[in-house]
Amino acid sequence: MSSVPFFLLPKFMQDRIESCRKAEREARKKAFDKMKEDPIIWDDKTKFEKFMVVDTQSWYEHTREFWPFQDQYVVDRRVTTDWKRELETDIVIDVTKNPDYPDRMLYRHQLLPAGDFLEMRGSKYQKGEIAFTEDTVIPTIIRDRRFSWSVWMSFTPMEYMTLRAGTRFARGDVLVGGLGMGWQAKKIAAKKNVKKVTVVEKEKALIDVIGPTLPKTIEVVHGSVYDYLKKNSITKHDRVVLDIWPGIMDSRDDYKLHRLFREVTGLRERTWCWGGKPRGY
Ligand SMILES: C[S@@+](CC[C@H](N)C(=O)[O-])C[C@H]1O[C@@H](n2cnc3c(N)ncnc32)[C@H](O)[C@@H]1O
Repeated sequence: MSSVPFFLLPKFMQDRIESCRKAEREARKKAFDKMKEDPIIWDDKTKFEKFMVVDTQSWYEHTREFWPFQDQYVVDRRVTTDWKRELETDIVIDVTKNPDYPDRMLYRHQLLPAGDFLEMRGSKYQKGEIAFTEDTVIPTIIRDRRFSWSVWMSFTPMEYMTLRAGTRFARGDVLVGGLGMGWQAKKIAAKKNVKKVTVVEKEKALIDVIGPTLPKTIEVVHGSVYDYLKKNSITKHDRVVLDIWPGIMDSRDDYKLHRLFREVTGLRERTWCWGGKPRGY
């Protein structure tokens, strides 16, 4: 069914939609007020639940040290109407360096108000919502295009939960595909059974900004992880951990990786993919 813009709907329908929205907001507020009395204290093993209210301080204790920038100015969405555009305080990650196509990424600390629910996934099958007990800082990278914008990456419990199987899988000499904010590479490098971490990232501008925030022991290579794997996978790495896709289901249809798995003996077994490995065809 094609969707009709809200303002074109008859008045009685607009009223009905508004009252449903209001009822939903009130139900959420009630659920939040109840759950925040006994919030989830976050740790490395916190399990997925459909509705979660997490204690902000425990979340910071387990994650803050892994943010790329600690003292970044915090943008409060409730008072900044212009939060989508570049602000003076953003760190600009200039992806294209081409003035005709001003597509760039902005690193920003955004404040998620207490009680605002975020959609999240605990795995490709688990969908839920999460809120924090207090206003909470979320490190975010925004993709700012000429006519549109989107949150390209943010560091929330969803990332934490969906990436942790990959961190567990890592051992020995590890190849990480996709730098992002460097969270997973740092988590893997901190493991006792990991000897070496190499990150392959295709966006040079991202390496320039995030690279210097990584420990010196992590090696960063600029390039596509597919090309890198083709050249180096057979002998070099014990484990390959890949998080290079925009959506959690995208890896399942990655035919390029699927082809690599067929060409390189043993690569499939040594690889972990965010969202699951490509399906065979
Ligand atoms: C969602 S982010 C990874 C987040 C990361 N796991 C973290 O802990 O912050 C995906 C990253 O993969 C990179 N990427 C996408 N395709 C790639 C490719 N073919 N080769 C290397 N890096 C790639 C993107 O530029 C982006 O930095």
